[in-house]
Amino acid sequence: EARPSGGRYELTAHTVEREILPGRRTRILSYGGSFPAPTIRARRGQPLDLLLRNELDVETVIHLHGGRTPPESDGYPTDVVLPPSGQVPHHLMAGDITTGQRTYHYPLDQRAATLWYHDHTMDYTAPNVYFGMAGFFLIGDDEEDALPLPGGDRELPLMICDRAFDADGQFRYPAISPERRVPGVTEPYMGGVLGDVILVNGAPWPEHQVSATRYRLRLLNASNARRYELDLGMPMVQIGTDGGLLEQPMERRTVTLAPAERADVIVDFSAAPVGTRVTMHNRLGDGGTAEVMRFHVVRHEPDDTEIPQRLSTIEPLDPGKVSAVRDIRFRLTRPPGGGQHGGHHGASQDSGMRWTVNDQVFDPEVSLAEPGLGDTEIWRFSTDVHHPVHLHLVHMQVLSRNGGNPRKDDRGWKDTVDLIPGETCEVLTRFDGYRGRYVFHCHNLEHEDMAMMANFTVT
Ligand code: C2O
Ligand code: CU
Ligand code: CU
Repeated sequence: EARPSGGRYELTAHTVEREILPGRRTRILSYGGSFPAPTIRARRGQPLDLLLRNELDVETVIHLHGGRTPPESDGYPTDVVLPPSGQVPHHLMAGDITTGQRTYHYPLDQRAATLWYHDHTMDYTAPNVYFGMAGFFLIGDDEEDALPLPGGDRELPLMICDRAFDADGQFRYPAISPERRVPGVTEPYMGGVLGDVILVNGAPWPEHQVSATRYRLRLLNASNARRYELDLGMPMVQIGTDGGLLEQPMERRTVTLAPAERADVIVDFSAAPVGTRVTMHNRLGDGGTAEVMRFHVVRHEPDDTEIPQRLSTIEPLDPGKVSAVRDIRFRLTRPPGGGQHGGHHGASQDSGMRWTVNDQVFDPEVSLAEPGLGDTEIWRFSTDVHHPVHLHLVHMQVLSRNGGNPRKDDRGWKDTVDLIPGETCEVLTRFDGYRGRYVFHCHNLEHEDMAMMANFTVT
């Protein structure tokens, strides 16, 4: 864990080996030498300069997911940092390329929330994240500090992801994902890459010792393509989501997380007898992926925390002040011209079918939307299969699902909205903060690398 001081933090990207499976060494593409990357704790209103040094032998880009960041520091996919001796890779279209290092400026003029940072390299985000390039970025503020919520060692950021391993302990990418085959498409990875081992903060199915008190779990699904429905067998009280605190706590039996989504929940382990274990299950998994981790309740301890009935205030965006309504379709289709963008793994060369946004594959030169600075818009997403839809820069309020009410998972501010097959979801968002070009995309990282991504430009 890192608490940057003086508004600066340095991170070196380099290759390391770590013991993830007992007695095996796994090669990691790391930010900061650890897996996951260091948890960075920052404060609202205290800008942070993040200096990235690249000592890998491949290029990388950092994106602060959930950050309200000026475009030049947002980690645009072609704004890569080359290794010191780097050649510009031929597959890269021109971006703002630097060699050896780059400083990202994060104003952090935004409410407390559980963010994360990860690689965003054009065509290679999925393997780079799979090999380790992701970490938590937690923003705190005074409003949240004033609440009597569990903190210190009773606040646990839990990064959940699935991985597959070779016999010698190396990450296996791509791994076999037969259950994600897309009907009618022969290529095996079109649905995204799944693993058969669940890692929490880099450890397989860990056990964590807890006291019989309330804990705050900051849950992040950092998987490339796997969705989870998390079940502790005891009530969870959700207090926050992607964009920070909810207005009111909400009791949940299970919490569903698509790739990149976060949920902030309070769990009261005093409901379990001391000496017992509480297992976090994944109701969408089977075999090794049906279990996530365990909590071993080892001692009694006094608890002076509370869950206030009022957590925060969320200004509702006004559907009456909307300046544009846009239809944004995420689907597998045959783009006009066959889709020049091949990607490097799994794009469906023979059939010509591609993952597209409004029937187009990603083109850095084309913007699908040009909202004015400060404009409120409705974006109406629709899907063929599962696609978690993520917008950079802005946060969203879900207005409707399939013409009806939003789900419980939709409350609060969202930067990633989980769409199930054949679904339509309307969101409200206000394009404030900065002018410039940003991306939005499917956060199934294989879909993203296969160019299911588009620009919007705030004008
Ligand atoms: Cu978490 Cu554009 O990504
Ligand atoms: Cu993002
Ligand atoms: Cu997708």
